[in-house]
Amino acid sequence: YGDASQKIDYVFKVVLIGDSAVGKSQILARFARNEFSLDSKATIGVEFQTRTLVIQHKSVKAQIWDTAGQERYRAVTSAYYRGAVGAMLVYDITKRQTFDHIPRWLEELRSHADKNIVIILIGNKCDLENQRAVPTEDAKEFAEKEGLFFLETSALESTNVETAFLTVLTEIF
Ligand code: GTP
Ligand code: MG
Repeated sequence: YGDASQKIDYVFKVVLIGDSAVGKSQILARFARNEFSLDSKATIGVEFQTRTLVIQHKSVKAQIWDTAGQERYRAVTSAYYRGAVGAMLVYDITKRQTFDHIPRWLEELRSHADKNIVIILIGNKCDLENQRAVPTEDAKEFAEKEGLFFLETSALESTNVETAFLTVLTEIF
């Protein structure tokens, strides 16, 4: 895997979803710019960033869409999901409620997105192990039952962020 600068062979749209404050925008900042901010502001509406990578000798432009977890800041959902070939369903391992809401996010995703969309479940903030509220096994079991990929990440420490995106992008291929 390297960074490409010339021609683009594919453009893949990937969407980030999950409750507010689980770290969606910081996962994206880490992946797209290798940046992280502790005083991240809640997203309003929709934002996106791109990063071009080389996968299996092809240059792939990943166009990652990020939206607000807060209902009142969310944009029209059907437009958000249109054309998406990958999705990252994010919860915070220190907030049980964000994991309990995952079935709802999955339902929204499945009702708006293409049926072949590649989905990965992500337990973010794994750097906060001492505050863990969601056992890894619970998430793994849920992911297996629903046919999703699963990883725990830390945008803060950069753990598994690259792997999570590569898992989705490689599977889309
Ligand atoms: P909305 O835009 O409201 O939907 O929230 P979001 O999911 O985009 O959350 P955001 O990325 O803004 O992060 C929320 C807070 O969690 C910020 O204070 C981040 O710095 C913090 N945060 C994000 N990722 C991590 C992580 O991996 N570890 C730790 N410790 N904090 C994180
Ligand atoms: Mg955000």
